[in-house]
Amino acid sequence: MIDLIKKLPKAELHLHIEGSLEPELMFRLAKKNNIDIPYKDIEDVRNAYNFTNLQTFLDIYYAGANVLITKDDFYDLTWEYILKCVEDNVIHTEIFFDPQTHTARGIAFETVITGIKEALADAKERYGITSGIIMCFLRHLSQQDAFDTLEEAMAFKEDIIGVGLDSSELGNPPSKFTEVFEKAKEAGFKLVAHAGEEGDFSYIYEALDLLGIDRIDHGVQSIHSDTLMQRLKEEQIPLTVCPNSNIELKVFEDYKAHNIKELLDYGLNVSVNSDDPAYFKGYINQNFINLCDNLPLTENDIVTLVKNSFRSSFIDDDLKQAYL
Ligand code: ADE
Ligand code: ZN
Repeated sequence: MIDLIKKLPKAELHLHIEGSLEPELMFRLAKKNNIDIPYKDIEDVRNAYNFTNLQTFLDIYYAGANVLITKDDFYDLTWEYILKCVEDNVIHTEIFFDPQTHTARGIAFETVITGIKEALADAKERYGITSGIIMCFLRHLSQQDAFDTLEEAMAFKEDIIGVGLDSSELGNPPSKFTEVFEKAKEAGFKLVAHAGEEGDFSYIYEALDLLGIDRIDHGVQSIHSDTLMQRLKEEQIPLTVCPNSNIELKVFEDYKAHNIKELLDYGLNVSVNSDDPAYFKGYINQNFINLCDNLPLTENDIVTLVKNSFRSSFIDDDLKQAYL
């Protein structure tokens, strides 16, 4: 099974580039940019990665992102993730970034997107890896802040395929962002949103019915509504599931309690993704391996999960057909 996982060419649809910041790079950039970080060494960082829920993770994740200052920093961050893609045989990736995390610190939108974009262009040239960039709005901030970010992004519209919604879910439902998603859709962006990670299944309904999203990020709470499950199955709405993340953030007690096999057996369009791999103990292959070690997934299931990620991707139809 491990051989199959390693061998299969994969696509990744749910990866926060800031969440691929490994402690080693964090230390290097902190030193270079003269940024204080609250850790004395790498081991100290790893010990701090002991989360009880989404918010305890986000606090540490946003603090880590403070070391990213220059275009080269964003390039290096993205390039290191690309090297992991090469290792794990990921041939297509759609990555999230959180512009507001950086613009709020005085880092220009252009600095961030240019660094990411140049690394992705080099990934295509050097390794043939195809990619897309999705800009996420931070849902703990206001809709007005998201509108301002969308306006800023318009100058880089050609570089961004979609708009997403992430950060603290509870208390910040999709309905808070209805108008800005409508505007993003009018501008031609694909739409995704984190929903049903910690929030209940009503967040998934809102993402579908109020935001008109193309994919749900996480969505594992859909299991609590039969009506929603039927709809997700009928419409084959993609759910980008992140097993390691769900375990590390205590959405499920352990891998054996994870519901991905049930979602898959029901006929939902689920895929496996790494979310924030530097914080959640592993990249995409490790997510598959942890699942296989704990759940009765068959080889057929693995192939289906991988195919689902390609068919749910935002790549052009020609390329999609080639990948499938
Ligand atoms: N930002 C980075 N990772 C996230 C997650 N799993 N949920 C919400 N926001 C995030
Ligand atoms: Zn995520």
